[in-house]
Formats: sequence, structure tokens, C-alpha cells
Amino acid sequence: MKAEINPNKIVVLSGAGISAESGLSTFRASDGVWQSHAWQELASPEGWRKNPQAVLAFYNERRRQAWEAQPNPAHLALAALQDAYEVVIITQNVDNLHERAGSKQVLHVHGELAYARGQSAQAKRYLIGGAPISLGQLCEDGTQLRPDIVWFGEEVQYYAEAQAHIASAAKVLVVGTSLAVFPIAGLVKHARYHAQKILVALDEMEKPWGYTFMRGKAGEIVPALAQTWLAQAGA
Ligand code: OAD
Repeated sequence: MKAEINPNKIVVLSGAGISAESGLSTFRASDGVWQSHAWQELASPEGWRKNPQAVLAFYNERRRQAWEAQPNPAHLALAALQDAYEVVIITQNVDNLHERAGSKQVLHVHGELAYARGQSAQAKRYLIGGAPISLGQLCEDGTQLRPDIVWFGEEVQYYAEAQAHIASAAKVLVVGTSLAVFPIAGLVKHARYHAQKILVALDEMEKPWGYTFMRGKAGEIVPALAQTWLAQAGA
């Protein structure tokens, strides 16, 4: 049975583009992370087995940059929507800019830089904040700590929960993602026929069925959209 639409619920699916105006690189732009670094070496279990030092250095640097960055008007506008709506953010981003902007319900489907864990999927997670992980730092199960990031070939987190949220939202906003990476890209099709569905991105891209495409910067479009939605709610 399908969940009922909650008229007061907004679900956001965000990707690297929402943090671009905070100074963090996206992945697939001409100056994106995967243009200068091979994901096979840095974001896969094989890469980790081959060269853990290089993988740790890569994520330590990304964590450093993310902790120096500040939430931008798009992150802040999404947090402000909580004044009038239930807002759930499903993010592929591993930074914590949504939380730092004030968003309360954030599902990190690709993991979080703020945590480290041991090698097994059941291993304990440790909150490390912005601190680096060193070779030789061990989990209490005796294995080397790794970043709590979902690498290619690993299972995403919170998928069923994310799907249920998107299927019960009256408004769905997809922002700053190329929708190139599955299974998360497939979530967009679980939005309901009668939901208002909006896609915001800087570059031209294939638009999922039923979505209105707004091309431009998240930091400009999202605050304007949030104002409209707050006015609709009488806030
Ligand atoms: P991509 O780099 O694939 O896509 C970024 C999207 O953001 C593109 O559609 C851009 O047009 C858009 N964009 C860039 N700047 C923007 C801005 N200022 N305002 C609005 N939109 C902007 O990044 P993701 O889709 O997030 O996974 O990538 C998905 C996954 O691929 C990541 O989570 C990561 C990566 O490999 C892992 O590492 C597991």
C-alpha cells in the first residue's frame, strides 16, 4: 500500500551542487573531483586495500575543506522552511552543511565525513568531527579506521527510509545533483504524481518525468522558492 501524501511535507534530494557556492567541488564538472582524481583509487574497497594511506589523505583533505566551508543561502533557506513544514533532506553529500544551517532531519545516504568506522559494515562508528584519520588508528575491533563513506560497490544507507519519505511528500525538490549515481538517482521516480516536483541544477540535464527544471544557482533559486513556499503556508 502506498503512503498517503502529507500536504505539509517537503523532501529535498541534494547533491554536490548545493555545496558548490560554499566553495566545495562537485564531482562531474570540468573542474570536478573525479576529473583530477580516479574514483577507482580513492572511493572503492579495492582502492582502499591497495593504498589506504592515499585514501585517508584524500578524505582528510576533503574533511578539512568541508569544515572550513560555511553553509550558503540554499542550505539556510531549506532550514528556514522547517518553520512551516516538515522537511526531510536526503543528501548524497558527505559534508555537514545542511546540519550546520539548522536542518534537523538529514539522511546521509552516501555517509558522512564526520564519522570513522572499522572495516566491517557492523563496526562501531566514531564521531571524529573535522579531525583527520591516521594510518594505525584502530577501531575497537582491531581494524584500521576508515572514513564512514559509501564507496562505489558498497550499499547506500537509509534507502528504504528515503524512498518512503519521498513517496509521502507534497513537494519534492531535487537540487545540485547530476542524478548519475544509482540507486539514489532512482529515488526521484518515487515522488507522487500529484506532488510538486522541482529540479534545480546549473547545467542542462535530462529531466525526470513530471519535474519542472529550474536552471541556475542553488544559492539564488532555492531561497526564492523557499519564500514562495513559506508564503503559501501563510508563514
Ligand atoms: P555531480 O558532480 O555529479 O553533479 C553536480 C550537479 O550540481 C550538476 O547537475 C551541476 O549542474 C549542479 N551544480 C553545480 N553547481 C551548482 C550550483 N551552484 N547550483 C545548483 N546546481 C549546481 O554531483 P552529485 O550528483 O552529488 O558519491 O554526485 C553524486 C555522487 O557521485 C556523489 O555523492 C559521490 C560521487 O561519486 C560517492 O562518492 C559515493
